[in-house]
Amino acid sequence: MKESEIRSNYLKKINELKKHNKLYFEDSSPIISDKDYDKIKKDILNLEKKFSFLKNDSSPSVSLGYTPSKNFIKSKHRVKMLSLSNAFDAEDLENFEKKIFNYLNKKIALDYSVEPKIDGISASLTYKNGSLIMGTSRGDGTTGEVITENLKTIKDIPQKITSKDFPNDIDIRGEVFIKRSEFDKLKNDFANPRNAASGSLRQKNPNETKKIPLNFVAYTYGYFKSGQIRKQSDFLNSLQRWGFKTNEHNKILNSIDDLINFHKKFEKERFDLEYDVDGLVYKINSLELQKRLGFTANSPRWAIAHKFSADSAFSQIIDINIQVGRTGALTPVARIKPVNIGGVVVSNATLHNEDEIIRKDIRLHDTVKIERAGDVIPHVISVDLKKRKKSSKKFVFPKKCPCGFDTTKEFNKVTKKFDAVRRCPDRGFECEKMAVEKIKHFISKEALNIDGLGKKVVEKFWDLKLIRFPQDIFNLDYTQISKLEGWGNLSVSNLKFSIDQSKKVSLDKFLYSIGIRHIGIENAKLLAEYTKSISNFLNFIKNKKINEFLNIDGIGDTQINSLKKFFENKSNYKIIEKLSSILNISDLKLNKNGKLLNNSFMFTGKLSNMSRAEAKSLIEENSGSVVSSVNKKLKYLIIGDKPTNRKVEQAKELGIKILSEKEWLNLLN
Ligand code: IVH
Repeated sequence: MKESEIRSNYLKKINELKKHNKLYFEDSSPIISDKDYDKIKKDILNLEKKFSFLKNDSSPSVSLGYTPSKNFIKSKHRVKMLSLSNAFDAEDLENFEKKIFNYLNKKIALDYSVEPKIDGISASLTYKNGSLIMGTSRGDGTTGEVITENLKTIKDIPQKITSKDFPNDIDIRGEVFIKRSEFDKLKNDFANPRNAASGSLRQKNPNETKKIPLNFVAYTYGYFKSGQIRKQSDFLNSLQRWGFKTNEHNKILNSIDDLINFHKKFEKERFDLEYDVDGLVYKINSLELQKRLGFTANSPRWAIAHKFSADSAFSQIIDINIQVGRTGALTPVARIKPVNIGGVVVSNATLHNEDEIIRKDIRLHDTVKIERAGDVIPHVISVDLKKRKKSSKKFVFPKKCPCGFDTTKEFNKVTKKFDAVRRCPDRGFECEKMAVEKIKHFISKEALNIDGLGKKVVEKFWDLKLIRFPQDIFNLDYTQISKLEGWGNLSVSNLKFSIDQSKKVSLDKFLYSIGIRHIGIENAKLLAEYTKSISNFLNFIKNKKINEFLNIDGIGDTQINSLKKFFENKSNYKIIEKLSSILNISDLKLNKNGKLLNNSFMFTGKLSNMSRAEAKSLIEENSGSVVSSVNKKLKYLIIGDKPTNRKVEQAKELGIKILSEKEWLNLLN
């Protein structure tokens, strides 16, 4: 057999193994027996033994299983591992509470579980019948890496729990971290304790992990039927009883003033702790309230991280570059002399926008104070005027986009002011800078999520003119790619595999991935729920019915104008049409087991027990749908305080059932 044939036979088997790994690890629905699976694996290993040129880093002999491009098997979290939104001051905290009261439609006294936010790496531990059966990293929040053996080397993580009240199926979540004193010994290898913990945890060989003493504190759960436990603070106590470590500074507070005072005190004391803490986490203590409040796209409504003030340092601006985002915003970025700020080497700092540069009079070669707080992008705080040379000149913000188009500042009708941001007019993919960013957005984690096709790869493929439009991703010249440096046969085959996988996408993700300004994850979901299928969505556009989207609760003029502007550009429509012929765009997955299946509801008037937003998610959780106009398809009209009479009359005429808020809640039990 020729070498090329051997290779192709080998790759076929690797791809087959990957397919089954995905089915097993990600979808939990294997279609072959363990025996058949082992046979494929054995065939691969035999081939490698016979033909040593086949061996590579992602062979099953090196890594364990589902590893398209990384070292670890991946596993989908049963409950997503989300992040927290940040608060920096009292105003942010007041807004956080205000949003809660709005959602609940009333002001109530709130108890908070207050917990130090250790700056480490989060991990999720799955226990079944008291045994630790799997441990994963956060990954992208949806899918994590299986690092069970590495986690098992941590002494704070119990492997068997015998307490009678320990749930028989639960994910315990917490933070893996390294103490400062231990980090001091590793200073030459890692920039900060967080990197050290992450590096150690992700060692391929658990014996390497063992060498660095890691710690674990538990603070929440993923999958868990909470049963008897009613409060976060009670859950923390249970964790301790079950044998987990929890933070010794956890406490309960019940007003924003108390939170702020404690934050002030703790911010000073944090340097005496044995580990790095970058803020405090405040969680609504009642688990029932947490459940009611639920989540936005990325974070819970019931918790917030109150960050400590940022670390800062001085450095000099070497250059100011203008970056163009996917929506055309021109963002000035200062390239600075690299400086270490709180353990991280910073060489870029955002200058936000044109107005910010004018306001702070930031100039080339200025010495500036730069601040960095946790995961927030470093930014320029102020200019040290004493260090400025007399010959220095004001920075002139370019009026043209690097692509050559004239830029504009939009007039905001609400604030009656011009926007601080200068923008390249959105002409689809005509502006090259925007086009690359649009493609990066298209493949990003929350959009099509193509493993192996990161931002850097997109840039490279763009430079090589391999891609110009999103659809080009599905028609790549793999022969050319396999000739590029760093691209072996296996990585090309991995890329093909992930691109193929990404073709199956839900309507909401697809609508988000197109990158229409003001259509984020939440709005894309609303549009997907309303239009149901991609062909329907395209019909709305084709028949110039974008205004109908105003019927959707949550979609307003801003979104409508943005959609109109986007589709005024015929090439945008063509790209979407083209993509819809390549991709397999499925309707939004709705829960089809709830009590309210096939029932549509509409509200009029103010509800007394909750906000419209909560009522809507309650209906949707139970498989019902919420519509915003009275028509024959409507099943129930729910009447709150001061309803619109016209709607009630219309409903009566059409014979639609009318329910009071109480009757509706009874329907739900
Ligand atoms: S709760 C849905 N509690 O902060 C909320 N997170 O930005 C889940 N963290 O990824 C997180 N201490 O790594 C929670 N007491 C604590 C925490 C904590 C640290 C980290 C965690 C998470 C990140 C959220």
